Amino acid sequence: MTTLLFGGDYNPEQWPREVWAEDMTLMRRAGVNTVTVGVFSWASLEPREGEYDAGWLDDVVGMLHDAGIGFFLATPTASPPPWFTRAHPDAMPVRPDGTRLTHGSRDTYAISAPAYRDAARRIARFLAERYGDHPGLRGWHVHNEYGTIDHGPHAEAAFQRWLQRRFGSVEALNDAWYTAFWSQRYDAWDQVTPPRTTQYLANPAHAVDFKRFCSDEMLAAFTEQKDEILAAGSTAPVTTNFMLPTWNHLDQWAWSDRLDLVSVDHYLDTPGPDGEAHVAYGADLTRSWAGGPWLLMEQSASGIRDGARLAHKDTDRMIRNSLGYVARGSQGSLFFQWRASAGGSEAWHSALVPHAGPDSEGFAGTVELGALLGRLEEVAEPPADGRVVDADVAVLWDADGWWSLETPHLPHDGLDYATEVRATHRALWRAGVAVDFVRSGADVARYRVLFVPSLMATDAATVTWLTQYVAGGGHLVVGRFTGVADEHQRVVAGGYPGLLRDLLGVRVTELRPLADDETRRLNDGATCDQWTERVHLTGARAVATYTDGELAGLPAVTRRDDGPGVAADGATRLVQESLDRFVAGLLAEHGVQAVVPAAVGTGLEAVRRRGAHGSYLFLLHHGDRPLRVTGPGHDLVTGAATDGGITVRAGGVAVVRETAGSDGPAPHWLLEPA
Ligand code: GLA
Repeated sequence: MTTLLFGGDYNPEQWPREVWAEDMTLMRRAGVNTVTVGVFSWASLEPREGEYDAGWLDDVVGMLHDAGIGFFLATPTASPPPWFTRAHPDAMPVRPDGTRLTHGSRDTYAISAPAYRDAARRIARFLAERYGDHPGLRGWHVHNEYGTIDHGPHAEAAFQRWLQRRFGSVEALNDAWYTAFWSQRYDAWDQVTPPRTTQYLANPAHAVDFKRFCSDEMLAAFTEQKDEILAAGSTAPVTTNFMLPTWNHLDQWAWSDRLDLVSVDHYLDTPGPDGEAHVAYGADLTRSWAGGPWLLMEQSASGIRDGARLAHKDTDRMIRNSLGYVARGSQGSLFFQWRASAGGSEAWHSALVPHAGPDSEGFAGTVELGALLGRLEEVAEPPADGRVVDADVAVLWDADGWWSLETPHLPHDGLDYATEVRATHRALWRAGVAVDFVRSGADVARYRVLFVPSLMATDAATVTWLTQYVAGGGHLVVGRFTGVADEHQRVVAGGYPGLLRDLLGVRVTELRPLADDETRRLNDGATCDQWTERVHLTGARAVATYTDGELAGLPAVTRRDDGPGVAADGATRLVQESLDRFVAGLLAEHGVQAVVPAAVGTGLEAVRRRGAHGSYLFLLHHGDRPLRVTGPGHDLVTGAATDGGITVRAGGVAVVRETAGSDGPAPHWLLEPA
């Protein structure tokens, strides 16, 4: 039977062999069944160019296997050793200002440098030939968090080749990039460089195309390693770990198509309650990229970086967070890292075995989580159709959308893609409903509401896709400043949002962002900030108008519903509480129910995961008062039947195998104070 994976990054090369033996004992005590080895081990595996020393790794994987612990084997290519730097100084990354980085940290490589690519392929092949059929191998973890951007000569040559493929002619590039402005017109491919530090504002189309190139270039580097692994005959699944929440160097949809298993590293950005919404966001995104089960490759054990400090994360929260990922399709809960380093750059990062050793609250938490995940084993087996979560609403996720909003000199510097998308997801999370993310062009007919919180630059195919969704009876909700430009960041003239004017039935003649201390009120009681637009109705009707400011009486939120579906436009930014109400209203209109309606607002998060053996209701109690939960099922955490009610303590969890099947009507759950 498939199991839930539990463990984390294991870096035995940092420790003497006596510690390895203790590690095996402690891993067994904690129920660890999976570790990731070799992530940054290049210097230990290939101490000199072409000279390999893998005896220590043979011993490590042998000990793990004897202890019944599986392993992901990483290719160590995120951290080239000093000999590589010395031998290939041209393969070091260059910053936009021309600074060439040197060895001394990690990720010091230029992704397009032939010497780096060759060395990466060689070490991948060496590992694949040596360990490709090891019985303990659970999968390949290629590289680590691709995302090092190089602006040097190798990147320049590769970028020029990429541009030639994309545009075909320099004239087409000039047209797309609007180079007539400021005399940027190119006459030959070799005049085009990566975007580098320049005198004033850089060209936005140039910036976004370079982002697209970097994602493609890193994917090519990944694919070369994957090909080496396959050529060596290994059949273990291949993954690489994406990074959330701030890493935006990859088009994750395109990458996910090439991964056998989608995995992610997720570090919360706040120790406050919003961290719980953040878990849900990261997990929903990754499940959606994967199109089914996925794996949480890293999270932190007991620390959350919070500005200047490392805030403490207690065991209850670590467990709730872990189950928040599993509830949304993760096949386990892995951590960075197993044993806290005694030195080096991340000595103060938390770990499953803290500096204090096994006699500590932290390790007790590790043991508690391991035991708990062991009791949930049956959850891991996905249903035949692979759909682990059923959602009626979807949110568009688009890497280009993020890259566009990073270009300089937009009408408001506060436009931030992840903030916009997270605000919408947060409102849905607070409403207690399941959410999928989708890519442009996906089959969205089954979703009752489709949100496009932000997509400044939009291509024609996306416009057609959205139009078809509405024509098919869907309810589309579009956020401000969406559809105003084409895929080359060129503004569509004639009124905003140029490409979506017809679909939305509005024509905007002025963007009127607000000052930081300004807000506006709407006639439905909502408050908005940062952004207003002068909207003319050309087929839509107003659903909310401004009651104050220069635009008083004019539409702020509109809806076109003269066809089979609805196309709604928010020409402002609702503050979170107002957005929450707006979203809750839409859900009610479409009869989209919370997973457990009685739980909304109580602090109890309810998520339903579908499995081969039925459906599982995950109850994660973030609130501070115990609750009595009653419904048909059996709590896998305590073994208790839930029909007569169970108490979920403040901070605690329950995972109920529901009596009704995963495809029948959702069972009814009652909630009351305990
Ligand atoms: C990333 C890396 C790890 C480690 C952690 C620390 O996710 O993959 O190697 O550096 O961050 O937060």
